[in-house]
Amino acid sequence: MPKRDFLAIPDLSREEIGAVVDLAQRMKRGEYRDRPLEGKTLAMIFTKSSTRTRVSFEVGTLQLGGHALFLSSRDIQLGRGEPIRDTARVLSRYVDGIMIRTFAHSDVEELARHASVPVINGLTDLLHPCQVLTDVFTMHEYLGGWDGKAVAWIGDGNNMANSWLNAAAVLGFELRLACPEGYEPNHDIFEFAKAHTNVMITEDVEEAVRGAHAVNTDVWASMGQEGEAEQRMLAFKGYQVSAALMKLAARDAIFLHCLPAHRGEEVTEDVFEGPQSRVFDQAENRLHVQKAVMATLMGG
Ligand code: CP
Ligand code: NVA
Repeated sequence: MPKRDFLAIPDLSREEIGAVVDLAQRMKRGEYRDRPLEGKTLAMIFTKSSTRTRVSFEVGTLQLGGHALFLSSRDIQLGRGEPIRDTARVLSRYVDGIMIRTFAHSDVEELARHASVPVINGLTDLLHPCQVLTDVFTMHEYLGGWDGKAVAWIGDGNNMANSWLNAAAVLGFELRLACPEGYEPNHDIFEFAKAHTNVMITEDVEEAVRGAHAVNTDVWASMGQEGEAEQRMLAFKGYQVSAALMKLAARDAIFLHCLPAHRGEEVTEDVFEGPQSRVFDQAENRLHVQKAVMATLMGG
């Protein structure tokens, strides 16, 4: 069997996502006791900061019987210019899977091309598939499924927005993005989603949220965009998820945020801490969903 990578949501079919969700549910309920990673090692390369991704992958690997290595790019030779393709081939001789968080998505694709073990994308400037796979699990958990559901994305057309477009394409739910001009998601990913499901972009946040079953946002300046923070603060004025905006969503709508969050910027304190917020369940679910992904890709 050729190795399988998870670089983007469409690397999994709708059926495979369904199977990952079922497995993650069993893991979350404590019904799964297998140790498919017994004696196996996951290398985790980080070129950007992380709390959730790092800890959930490390703990998840341990719970599946394996061992995880935290490799900061500051400390490995990759950070001093050793080529990605060499790093991929060397690590493949030692470990059974590689998780990487970095800037350029093409670097992750290159790593995957040259590695003989599964590669998992832990976030790039383009995509954040592990987070959005978790978010669709969280949707399934609180909304009972994806069919007939509408999701609103408010704010930056960033890595999260792009992965939500991919998820909508594969799972078939409706996605409405409210993004200011100049901050739209990736054009090709939007067109791919449009060919598969009902997606739209507007500058009107109310239009995006009206009747939505899940309302989602993220920081206005992602990692690597710190220098643009001030300019972005101006561009995203009016794109805050507030209690008044949440009132336009479906009555039982949930609020999602991948975290870390900037209260008072993309979301108000009352929504973040309010009864519709599922942000800490989302954070917990990273553990269950990534364990299911690792068991699927690395457990064989
Ligand atoms: N949501 C998320 O990926 O969090 P970290 O940056 O803390 O890993
Ligand atoms: N869009 C954010 C997500 C962080 C988990 C970033 O890339 O910084």
